[in-house]
Amino acid sequence: MILALESSCDETACAVVDGLRVRSSVVASQIDVHARFGGVVPELASRHHLDALVPVIRAAVDEAGLDFARLGEQLDAIAVTDSPGLVGALLVGVQAARGLALATGLPLYGVHHMEGHLFSPLLREAEAEAEAQADTDSDALALPPHLALLVSGGHTELVRVGGLGDYTLVGATRDDAAGEAFDKVAKLLGLRYPGGPIIDRLAKQGDPEAVRFPRAMLDRPNFDFSFSGLKTAVAVHLERNGQPDSRQGLLDLCASFQAAVVEVLVAKTCAAARAHGCERVHVVGGVAANSGLRGAFEDAAKAGEIGSFVTAPLRYCGDNAAMIAAAGGARHARGWPAVVDVDSSVAIDDPRLAPVLEGAS
Ligand code: KG4
Ligand code: ZN
Repeated sequence: MILALESSCDETACAVVDGLRVRSSVVASQIDVHARFGGVVPELASRHHLDALVPVIRAAVDEAGLDFARLGEQLDAIAVTDSPGLVGALLVGVQAARGLALATGLPLYGVHHMEGHLFSPLLREAEAEAEAQADTDSDALALPPHLALLVSGGHTELVRVGGLGDYTLVGATRDDAAGEAFDKVAKLLGLRYPGGPIIDRLAKQGDPEAVRFPRAMLDRPNFDFSFSGLKTAVAVHLERNGQPDSRQGLLDLCASFQAAVVEVLVAKTCAAARAHGCERVHVVGGVAANSGLRGAFEDAAKAGEIGSFVTAPLRYCGDNAAMIAAAGGARHARGWPAVVDVDSSVAIDDPRLAPVLEGAS
């Protein structure tokens, strides 16, 4: 049983997870704080994490049916996101987690935020009691070999996952992340931050073929992405044509932009899965909540372009602490060292993520 904290960006989160079964997952979003600035303001994020953290921890402990005074006996370990992210925001969660670890005498595992996202499709609700037995087995915490598309506000990466800590970067964005493109285009269209969920909702009623936006890097023989040109193409379209003068015009622009992002993400991911012999494809991170992207991957799996497509339940696509608890729990189950190393930018294939694999036979 692991209690985890997540505060790397604009969500303050705490969760209690038993194996892969989520006993509680509390997320306090700062969206309203940052929305008026059109993006995350790091200094405000740190301050709001400080305010939110204790009530969020209390709520997660209560919801899990644990006793705050007996956490040392009721939990096996504490986990916390220690990289990558806004350094001030990370530090708030890490210092609170250090306090909890000191007070309880429990080991404290630092978790890479994107490794947390890799665990999100494996999470199950605690009510699924039928699977309780399997979950307590440490093998159930193993990451199955797969190709992961990590798509969030800060990252767009293709990672070949061999198992825990065994991550090979196959491709990445050369400029903006996919979520960043959604947010920037939403801003251009006068929509609120974060724009991803809003564009997703509007795109459902629009014509994806209304405007033909560029599909960057699609014909290149690599697995890298580029989204800044697409954002510029939307800006140029708006300069030439002005803001859409009808609701349908706005819906069509959203649908056309989303179609361009989805087509590139799906095509590159399927090609990478084939090239790397990966049967399973996992799609994780905030943008994995996108209905167009989920639908397109389902279609690709049905058409046999990939073996199978797995994603997280919607509530675990965005930032949460349950995924951090699962990743911390997997490290604990293997007896890996409990290390916390706050760092604002660590790549998913950094050797620090696989301490035991190094030198292992
Ligand atoms: O993983 P996440 O919650 O935080 C980071 O680690 O960055 O991802 C946030 C990103 C934001 O850019 C947001 O606009 C995007 O995920 N997002 C979406 C959707 N829901 C969230 N993008 C497209 N469609 C969505 N439904
Ligand atoms: Zn994230």
